[in-house]
Amino acid sequence: MAIEQTFSIIKPNAMKKNAIGDIISMFEANGLKIAAAKVTILSKSKAEEFYAEHKERPFFGELVSFMTSGPVTIMCLQGENAVAKNREIMGATDPKKAAVGTVRAKFGDNVGENAVHGSDSTASAARELALFFEKHEICNV
Ligand code: TYD
Ligand code: MG
Repeated sequence: MAIEQTFSIIKPNAMKKNAIGDIISMFEANGLKIAAAKVTILSKSKAEEFYAEHKERPFFGELVSFMTSGPVTIMCLQGENAVAKNREIMGATDPKKAAVGTVRAKFGDNVGENAVHGSDSTASAARELALFFEKHEICNV
C-alpha cells in the first residue's frame, strides 16, 4: 500500500477538552505519524477558503464561525493509506453515527462540533496541505 500524507484539524471543541494528546495517540496507535503540526487560530477568510466546497450549504456560516471560535491544531499525518485510515479513525461526520472508539464518537459534540477534520481524498489532501503548510514545513517521517 502507498505511503500517503493527509491533512487533519483538531477543531476548537476538542481543543477545549484538552484532547490533543488523546487524539494524536489514536492516530499513532493506528500507524499514522505526525509529519507537521501547529496550534493556530484560523482567520475567517482562511476558513472560508478551506471549506469553499460547502459555501452554498445552509450550515456554512455556522461552520466558519465555529472553526474560527478558538485555537485549532493543524497537522499533516503520514502513513500507509493515510487518507482512508484517518477517516476511519475519525468516524462518521455526525458523532451520533460514529462507530464506538472513533475520535468523533469520543470527542464530538454534534454534527458541526465534531472534533476533527480529515481530507476525503488524496486530491483534497494535497489542496488542504498546500493551503496551510509550506512544503519545507512537512517532514518525511
Ligand atoms: P462534510 O465534508 O460533509 O463532513 P466531513 O467533515 O466528515 O468530511 O462536512 C464538513 C463539515 O461541515 C463537517 O465536519 C461539519 C460541518 N457540517 C455541519 O455543520 N452540518 C452538516 O449537516 C454537515 C453535513 C456538515
Ligand atoms: Mg469533508
